[in-house]
Amino acid sequence: MERTLNTRIMKVPRIFLHGGDYNPDQWLDRPDVLREDIRLMHLAGINAVSVGIFAWARLEPEEGRYDFAWLDEIVDRLRENGIGIVLATPSGARPAWMAQRYPEVLRCNERFERMHFGERHNHCLTSPVYREKVRQMDTELARHYAGRSPVLLWHIGNEFGGDCRCPLCTQAFREWLMDKYGTLEELNRRWWTGFWSQRYTEWSQIEPPSPMGEVSNPSMQLDWRRFETCQCASFIRMEREAVQAVMPEVPVTTNLMERFSDYDYFTLAREIDVVSWDSYPTWGSGDDLALAANVAMQHDLMRSLKRKPFFLMESTPSLVNWKPHNKLKRPGMHLLSSMQAVAHGSQSVMMFQWRKGRGGSEAFHGAVVSHDGRSDTRVFRDVAEVGQVLTNIQPVLDARNQAQVLILFDYENLWALEKVQAAQMGNMRYIDTVLLFYRSLWERGIAVDFADMENACPEKYRVVIAPMLFMFRGGIEEKLRRFTEQGGTLVTTFFSGIVDADHLTFLGDAPHGLTEVLGLRAEETDALYPGETNELVLDGQRLCLRELCELPREVTAEVVGRYGRDFYAGLPALTRNACGLGTAWYLAGKPDQEGVDAVMDRILAETDLPRADAGVEHRTGVVVTVRGDYLFVQNYSGEPQQVRINGPMWDLVGQRTVEGECRMPANGIMILKEERG
Ligand code: GAL
Repeated sequence: MERTLNTRIMKVPRIFLHGGDYNPDQWLDRPDVLREDIRLMHLAGINAVSVGIFAWARLEPEEGRYDFAWLDEIVDRLRENGIGIVLATPSGARPAWMAQRYPEVLRCNERFERMHFGERHNHCLTSPVYREKVRQMDTELARHYAGRSPVLLWHIGNEFGGDCRCPLCTQAFREWLMDKYGTLEELNRRWWTGFWSQRYTEWSQIEPPSPMGEVSNPSMQLDWRRFETCQCASFIRMEREAVQAVMPEVPVTTNLMERFSDYDYFTLAREIDVVSWDSYPTWGSGDDLALAANVAMQHDLMRSLKRKPFFLMESTPSLVNWKPHNKLKRPGMHLLSSMQAVAHGSQSVMMFQWRKGRGGSEAFHGAVVSHDGRSDTRVFRDVAEVGQVLTNIQPVLDARNQAQVLILFDYENLWALEKVQAAQMGNMRYIDTVLLFYRSLWERGIAVDFADMENACPEKYRVVIAPMLFMFRGGIEEKLRRFTEQGGTLVTTFFSGIVDADHLTFLGDAPHGLTEVLGLRAEETDALYPGETNELVLDGQRLCLRELCELPREVTAEVVGRYGRDFYAGLPALTRNACGLGTAWYLAGKPDQEGVDAVMDRILAETDLPRADAGVEHRTGVVVTVRGDYLFVQNYSGEPQQVRINGPMWDLVGQRTVEGECRMPANGIMILKEERG
């Protein structure tokens, strides 16, 4: 795949990458280990490694003195052995000399206290000194390796996250606000500062939200997250420009995280050429099917950030060492979880880490090579198996994921729901609500794209699901109205269309701008106590509702399901409204997964969306995901399963033809393609 960006030809790797974080800088006094690494990498089928991620102290041991000699040796050896390089900028952790000489590179915490040297991912992204040091380092790195070694990808920093409340950030926040609002009058109006005497009369009175000061103004909280996103985006842009000024053809990525809400990832994604992310599910903790649904959703979200294939940048070959209980991956799970990423559009299976260090906090984190240095371990064999399968499935690289269902997922809505003082305080569970809908579709083999309110193009889809869209921004109500009128199927829920982008409530009926489309207005929202339930009565079934129940009034829509209990028993709880050429559904209460499944079955019965599992008969626990012409049949049930394959198919994993009854082991995976001729 090649693409032009500002007339540059960007070269994205043309093979599945298999490898991971490689930290030779921890082993420079052991050349024997470094030589052995290459031999073992060949055995494990590794074709790419990420180097230099936290290597700043080695790359610039003293201010202004760069030392690339040690890395040259590593890089040369990797090149000679045909192993590609993902070259990292070391901005994820700064050296001690820098923290000592320039304390401004260190963050101030939420109590405005300056942090001391230590840890990582904790430098001030505003600090001009830090930015300049990073820019110089990135430029030196790029100049040094341009022409010396082909670089597959630039890996900018590592897992950007967190806030700083130093004087520089405080000032930058004020300037960002001045730029946005122009006048204090406008800021006071949109922050609703008439409340609790919050009115500002000088810009210098404004500080970042903090438990030491203001923490409950929702409009300010939203702006703080937007500002932090902007600082992070401009930091990444600065790094990208530094490295691409020298190597314009090498794409840039930074590794993102799951269920992460510090920054708006749709905004950050504009600063990089390809999305990559780090996935560490707690496999084996009870319900792998539920867990796999969550991981699948993260993969699809990552693919949706740029509507392009992504890279799985980190995963563990066995266990992690930072959860309360660090369980081993069960047999088969490494292959299954790796192929799950590929099913959803990944172009790589990269791991943390290649070799366990002897010290430091990650000495007991899973690695391809353990302290015994052996290649005949279970984990090593699992990794080698993935390497082999990635070679066998090479044609899948060009296959694209295509969806006819769009789920709206919006970071600003997430921030608003995280902070809103209403209904279920601090526990509105937006991501879990989105996941309920996602999982129904995923288990039915129906592909999904995500978009936020700003970037959404509903007209490209047949079904749009907008769970819990508390905030309406970017004219989303108009987009959804048009989509429905033109024949689309819209699914909305409780707690939607209540505030605008400033977190000011709309005046008038809710959901704002959609009452006619839905044929009702939402009047009140009831919050249920933990353990308390209501019921959705649907086609004779009584389905459990929890947490939130909204009370619709003036319902002209067709009532499909009703509340079963409490003073609002009999009130509509699921409605369907014909609107123009399309249909608008509204779910008033929050069901469990079983209830959402029943609702989605009802809705999907009216559409004829393609299902990936049409040719594969299976029971719950087996999921089929489609990528282009390839069907990924995945067994998350924790036990062996019988599936029935209709028609002869070629299994790229087993390298055999399968047809009819077929037994899958626990954690089994098949990648099927129709056999022609
Ligand atoms: C990631 C991080 C890696 C490593 C890994 C351990 O979040 O990027 O550097 O710490 O976790 O699981």
